[in-house]
Amino acid sequence: MSEPRIPLVAGNWKMYKGPAEARAFAEELLRQTTNDEGEMTKAGNPELAVFPPFTALPAVAEILRGTSISYGGQNCHWESSGAFTGETAPGFLAELGCQYVLVGHSERRSLFGETDETCRKKLAAAIAAGIEPVLCCGETLAEREADRTFDVIERQLRAALADPPPPGRFTVAYEPVWAIGTGRTATPVQAGEVHHFIREWLGRNISAEIGERTRLLYGGSVKPDNFGELMKQPDIDGALVGGASLQVTSFCSIAGAARSYLTGLI
Ligand code: 13P
Repeated sequence: MSEPRIPLVAGNWKMYKGPAEARAFAEELLRQTTNDEGEMTKAGNPELAVFPPFTALPAVAEILRGTSISYGGQNCHWESSGAFTGETAPGFLAELGCQYVLVGHSERRSLFGETDETCRKKLAAAIAAGIEPVLCCGETLAEREADRTFDVIERQLRAALADPPPPGRFTVAYEPVWAIGTGRTATPVQAGEVHHFIREWLGRNISAEIGERTRLLYGGSVKPDNFGELMKQPDIDGALVGGASLQVTSFCSIAGAARSYLTGLI
């Protein structure tokens, strides 16, 4: 029997919050969710993580390092150093105490030329630097309407993870592109079936253990009032939240919805 998967509620701040605002957020989040030792105060809490812009990471690290709240980068390069103007090495994130890094967010794929191949290299480099990558995947509306959702997800997984699978932990976030920032959340059934597909794919193509232990997050217009239903899907282990993660109150309410589910309240 493998260990139970610890749910994760993660906030992707995208290009919001400079250092001052980020620091205030981190202080308030800590105040609302942890005791004086920085430990979570509520039993059965999901793990919380924030993904600030790079310039705000040191401020967030200063507040959250050593607490039970995690943080990570929104992107990284695959090389450990070099002449790559504007890029950030995974080791630099590790030095700041980052536990996670996002890889292949759909905005990076569609706006900044990220490919399946760069995702593969970034994922492996992050693991090598001791950081857990959160691999983002998801289909566009046109792909869903053309009934190509599973093909797209499979292509993205295969490109990033197959041959050979990286030896280390990673998380997968399913973020249907049509649900990001649109207010149009995938229904629990829609999200649940893709998550199930991802878990099966990992089990079949990497190993039964990785299929079982890998956390799968849902992202795309997650809000406090829709997340409880999504969490009821057996293969959904948490959320990657954009807009609703920018206020401490709504971020904590989403964590609260996950907690209510975990403690049997919904
Ligand atoms: P929204 O929650 O704003 O739809 O964004 C989702 C997302 O892209 C998280 O990475």
